Formats: sequence, structure tokens, C-alpha cells
Amino acid sequence: MTGALRLTEDLEQLLDTMPDPAAGTQVTALESELADRFGVRHAVAVSSGTAALHTALRAVGVGPGDEVLVPALTVIMSVAPIIHAGARPVFVDCTPDGADLDHTDLSAKVTPATKAVLPVHLWGRIGDLARLGGWADEHRLLVVEDACQAQGSRTGDRHAGTGSAIGCFSMKDGKVLWCGEGGYLLTDNDRYAAAARSYRSHGLPPPPPGYPPQVAQNYRLAEPLAVIARANLARLDDLLARRQHQAALLRELLTDAPGVQPAAAPGQGWNGYSFLATLTMPRPRAFCERLAGLGIPNSVGTFRLVPADQRRELASFAASPCGNAAAVIDRTLAVILTDHDDDQRITGYAEIIAREARAWCPRD
Ligand SMILES: Cc1ncc(COP(=O)(O)O)c(C=O)c1O
Repeated sequence: MTGALRLTEDLEQLLDTMPDPAAGTQVTALESELADRFGVRHAVAVSSGTAALHTALRAVGVGPGDEVLVPALTVIMSVAPIIHAGARPVFVDCTPDGADLDHTDLSAKVTPATKAVLPVHLWGRIGDLARLGGWADEHRLLVVEDACQAQGSRTGDRHAGTGSAIGCFSMKDGKVLWCGEGGYLLTDNDRYAAAARSYRSHGLPPPPPGYPPQVAQNYRLAEPLAVIARANLARLDDLLARRQHQAALLRELLTDAPGVQPAAAPGQGWNGYSFLATLTMPRPRAFCERLAGLGIPNSVGTFRLVPADQRRELASFAASPCGNAAAVIDRTLAVILTDHDDDQRITGYAEIIAREARAWCPRD
């Protein structure tokens, strides 16, 4: 990590003041830096992205009896917080290219119990948030963004996770802005921010007037992790440039690999979260698993990504299958990138992917 010396000094200084059960200086500083960086009124730091989503849903008032529309094209961590909030996830399909929610399906799934829609910016790609916001206003629904993979992604001059009721982020290792484990939420709404600060810390400070008494959580971010997060936030532009460079390099090196169609970069504002390609070869899932076995971490092969509506533990919430999401996941190679991956490693990845693709694809 560049700036490691400075980080070590900052951590040592903090450790000299620990234990201090009332401490919060680093977290407060991080929150103010995040709010500045993303141009919002409030940032609230929490212990994970899952905690950020759970806290956000409770802060906007999602609870038992409510339904939340959520893409099937997502990971379990987007869905679990809806269930933890006592609400029901309702899975919505995506467009055939996976780049946005399918608005026909979205509208078909609204019921009188629907309270919110939770778009997920998977692999850092953002759908049409202006359209979604207009649609949500028409239906009097709140938008809570799962921007856990979208730090630094933008659409126009809007940062991912800003402009909706609340945007939620993860700082787990491997996210663009990381600190080991952690998360934060961004909002311009004073009441939501105050409710979130209360919910993350067992109701202290108390929630703003109008919120019913409730048993809350310990979702606080630890001070040493806030020091790491601040160091990474200070170099966020470099971290973003690195991801974008890695994704672009893989795209360039894999142009001719058979059965691997690198996706065009999804626009200027993409953070380059993962290298993305559509696999046109037979048995694409098995190919992803093979790559994972050869040391190339990827969403399907390494983390066994399946559409949320096909997960066994979510079966009781699944209605009609979301076919586009299933097709997109089955055919997507999403290579997981980190700031450790230098050009040599990326070139090595490309050589293995191209070699395996040549062996995997049937010859004419
Ligand atoms: C899209 C998405 N949502 C939510 C989460 C949950 O974040 P965390 O692992 O920090 O709880 C993650 C991170 O893994 C994620 O990728």
C-alpha cells in the first residue's frame, strides 16, 4: 500500500490512545471526508456493506409487512438486509445485457406493500438512475442504492450512491475503497442520517422524533479501520485509475481469445470494478470454475454467483424465474481485481484465459 509509512504512524498514534471506549475521532473524520468527496450532507460509517444496507432500510422505515424490489442479478448480501429488516424481497429481472433493471418486470411487481426499490450496481455498472428515480416517484417508492461495488462510479455528474434516499457502500477488502471490513452510507436527508447514527449504535444517540422505539444494532466501525479507510480515501483517484487500467489491459489482451467477448467499457463513469466479458463458448460456468482453479478469481467460478432468486435459502421468496439475470450470470466472466494486481499479473491472467479458451472452444 503506498503511503504505508504514514499509515503505520497514524495507526501507532491511535493505538497509543487505545483502549478508549468513547473514542470516535477517526470515524468522525472519515465521515466528514467521505461527505466532502462525494458531495453529500452526511456520511455514516458502519461495520460492513451489509450493515450499511440494513441500517439504511431501517432508517427509511422499511420493516415487517413491507416489500422491497431488488434485482435478481445480485449477491446474497443485497438481499439479506431486506430480510433482516423484516421485509420481503421481491426479485426483479434485468435487461438482456444485464446493464439495468427491466422496467416492465419492475412495474409488474409493484404491490400495495411495496415500500422501496434497491438497485444494485453490480460490477460497478450503474443503470439509468434518473429513469428509476422518476419511476419510483410516480409509485411513491423510496430508492436505496446498493453501491457496494460502485465506489467512484458516476453517471453524468452524479456519483453512485448519491441522489437517492440513501446510498450504501462496502469497504471489505477487495472493494475499491477498502479497510479490511467496513461500510458507510451517504445521504442528503438529515433525518435518515440521524436515524442511521442511532441504529448503528444501539439507539445512542436516540433516533429523531417520529421513529418508533426499536432494538438496534452494534454496527459501529472500529477506529483502526477508519484510519485505514482514510488513508485509502486519500488515494481513491489512484485506486480508481488502477482498476480502470487493469480492466482496460485485460480487455486489450483478450480481444482475440475465442469464446471470450470483452464487454465494452460501460461508459466514462465506470469504476472498472471487474474485468467483464461475455462467454460465447459451451459450458461457460464450468469454464469460469476452471479459471478459478487456475488462480484467476472471478464471480461465478470463485464465488459461485447465481441469480438471487435461484438461491436455495431464498426459495420461499422466489416467484417467476428471472431468466435474463440467469442468462447474464451464466455467460459472464467477471475477473476480480485488486490494487495488488500489477501489469505482470494481469498479463499472466490474460495468457491463462486465452490459452484455456483456445483449448475449450470447439474448432470449426
Ligand atoms: C453488491 C454488494 N452488496 C453488498 C455487499 C455487502 O458488503 P459487506 O461484505 O461489506 O457486508 C457486497 C460486498 O461483498 C456487495 O458486493
